[in-house]
Amino acid sequence: MTGQREFRLLDGVHVLLTGGTGFVGQAMLEKLLSAYPTVRVTLLIRERRGVPAARRLQTLLRKPVFRPWREAAGEEAWQAAVRDRVSVIEGDLGAITLPRDIDVVIHAASTVSFDRPIDEAFATNVSGVVTLYEALAAAGADPHVVHVSTAYVAGVRKGVIPEAALDHAADWRTELASAVAIRAEVERDSRRPETLRKTSAKARAEHSKAGPQSVARSAEEARRDWVARRLVEYGRSRAQSLGWPDVYTFTKALGERVAEELWAGAGHRLSVVRPAIVESSLRHPYPGWIDGFKMADPLIIAYGQGILPEFPGLPDSVLDMIPVDLVVNAMLAVAAAPPEPGRPAYYHVGSGTRNPLAYRGLYENVREYFRRHPMPAGGRGHVRVPSWRFPGGDRVELMLRGGERATALAERALRRMPSSQRTQDWMSSVLRQQTDLEFLRRYSDLYEAYTQAEVIYDDSRTYALHQMLPDHLVAEHGFDPAVIDWREYVQEIHAPAVTALVPGSGRRGGSRAGSARQPELPERTDVAAVFDLEGTVVASNLVEAYLWARLSTLPRSRWSGELAGLATALPRYLRAERRDRGDFIRAFLRRYEGASEEQLRDLADDVLGQALLQRAIPEAVRQIRRHRAAGHRTILITGAIDVLVRPLAGLFDEMVASRMHTSGGVFTGHLAAPPLVDEARAAWLQRHAQEAGLDLAGCYAYGDSYSDRPLLEFVGHPVAVNPDPALYVHARRRGWPVRNWGSHVRGAADVLVDTVLVDMGAVRR
Ligand SMILES: NC(=O)c1ccc[n+]([C@@H]2O[C@H](COP(=O)([O-])OP(=O)(O)OC[C@H]3O[C@@H](n4cnc5c(N)ncnc54)[C@H](OP(=O)(O)O)[C@@H]3O)[C@@H](O)[C@H]2O)c1
Repeated sequence: MTGQREFRLLDGVHVLLTGGTGFVGQAMLEKLLSAYPTVRVTLLIRERRGVPAARRLQTLLRKPVFRPWREAAGEEAWQAAVRDRVSVIEGDLGAITLPRDIDVVIHAASTVSFDRPIDEAFATNVSGVVTLYEALAAAGADPHVVHVSTAYVAGVRKGVIPEAALDHAADWRTELASAVAIRAEVERDSRRPETLRKTSAKARAEHSKAGPQSVARSAEEARRDWVARRLVEYGRSRAQSLGWPDVYTFTKALGERVAEELWAGAGHRLSVVRPAIVESSLRHPYPGWIDGFKMADPLIIAYGQGILPEFPGLPDSVLDMIPVDLVVNAMLAVAAAPPEPGRPAYYHVGSGTRNPLAYRGLYENVREYFRRHPMPAGGRGHVRVPSWRFPGGDRVELMLRGGERATALAERALRRMPSSQRTQDWMSSVLRQQTDLEFLRRYSDLYEAYTQAEVIYDDSRTYALHQMLPDHLVAEHGFDPAVIDWREYVQEIHAPAVTALVPGSGRRGGSRAGSARQPELPERTDVAAVFDLEGTVVASNLVEAYLWARLSTLPRSRWSGELAGLATALPRYLRAERRDRGDFIRAFLRRYEGASEEQLRDLADDVLGQALLQRAIPEAVRQIRRHRAAGHRTILITGAIDVLVRPLAGLFDEMVASRMHTSGGVFTGHLAAPPLVDEARAAWLQRHAQEAGLDLAGCYAYGDSYSDRPLLEFVGHPVAVNPDPALYVHARRRGWPVRNWGSHVRGAADVLVDTVLVDMGAVRR
């Protein structure tokens, strides 16, 4: 590779680019369009979520990567270039038909996730590669293929890795056949009674309050998660058993073998390019261009947010990063310098040999950056980033396990506590710690091999190619990593670029749930706002209502007897409420046996009504009125007895409550119909929506208990009001608004406990 005059840039050729919608592919397409005016490009793009390839191309061309060139060229020249030089073939790597007149293929399409289920990783990275080469052969084309791989295909090794074919004995056909067959096996295992018993028991323990269908749905979700996790495990353990860190590098290594065999082996020209960790641009199309977070970035951001007290890794290991524009330039130089047919050439594109950046060096630069530009700490000043001591993987693992155990215990305890602002604050902090720990766990498992690597990827061939560039082309087409000033790159270019991707530049931002401003309500007559009663609209519950009703009909001398009876029944009610809200309502309403309906009605219209209205939560009342003003139908759904909620009739267009069975005007203690709880509420709303012509996606629902989950999930605008711990967790995970209205409402159990346990005189409120 001598003699500068021998090197020619690509000129007048037709390039087929796969993976053009990805990170490296976008940078490649931009460079081809902006710097190679005589080159035509055909992109292989798959249809995605119903969007055809042609539309995806239009969206792609509007991305920021093209902006500088588009602005410099002017709209007309840009449109003409796109029209004359870019075309698209729709298809994925499962089945494609390709044209014959292709001169160069840049095959960048790939699944790049380290932890994909084994069959999915093989589908694109091995089977997809087979499809590509078979399609090229079927078209009768003879292009030079630049097969994009990764430096990490070398697997877990120490020392210098040469730019040569990989040294391993894994057979891609056997591995592919087994990866494809595994899913059926795992699916079968997931349906075994012993596996199903476990998933169902877990689902029952967590969701029985929300009803039987919720339990069944979550058991099935758990089974599917189990299948996915198992397939990920299969991929990882097979890869590791053969000396690769993960399924990504394993399948990419096998993909190289496919290319060698099916393309170079058939007498064609093949170059394998193996970039290291590709990150934001150094210069082109502008410093810091990046398309979402790449490999190192979640860690950089997490560190800036103060949630990485330590991370496993050897401070002296080389973290081989390389800006994407240098990678693209290297690939295009490779494309212009094909090897002999049948004799594949290999190129490492990284910084580890010519300009190594140690893990410690990256850490120090990132720390300096965040010390100078700290991230906001959610309205509480700024994050102070931690100092790492690099204690080693074992210590980090111990710290992780301790944290995971402690937060799991705390969550279990909090789920049993009554709903209160303080419980919510504790739960919120536990959830945050859990998210942080999950993050740390995931990334320390995934990145272990990369942050503890003791390898150097030799890049003599790549550097020799760079040396062939005539001087006048170096600025625009060069790819020597020695030009990178790491301090400038990390602190002035890369860290600002990835920090800018964080919404509000503070993951922990946001105000307390309770103080959030109410959004405007659209004026519509085809939507309803459905409210649960206890804990949502009134700061009261069944027990309290019963006490008002019962005690006001009894002489003071009999109060202690009544309360003692309640105290004896307390454990039974608590058990019933935890198990199933319907059981609790049924059990509790038995206490009304023998009460006169008429007497209760009179009471409700008089003292009970006043007490109930005094217990109405002002924010709830205001919200009901806002819905009414917007033309929405307001509906109350409650397990309380209809007679007792009569005083609220003025607030709602419709009230759906429990009805007691009567005999001769006296309650028998049984309900006239099953209580409307958990899934029965959702079923009622579905029928009602059909009859009344309501648009469920526009409807609102407000509830405070996990048993309200089915109702809340049924509408387009669910709101968790003063949620119990389980509903709070669910709402946070689903991104539902959480409102803390009024003084926090106490659960049935609280009222019962303190009513019974306090001095009898204190029962008067
Ligand atoms: N990023 C790095 O740090 C890095 C480092 C070393 C090597 N590499 C290699 O560089 C190449 C590009 O990586 P990247 O970071 O740009 O990945 P990326 O952003 O995830 O893009 C992947 C591309 O592949 C396409 N693709 C995936 N499966 C496909 C299928 N079955 N059929 C058709 N297209 C499919 C995707 O299309 P959709 O838009 O339709 O999903 C997307 O265009 C890969 O070969 C990767 O192994 C990357």
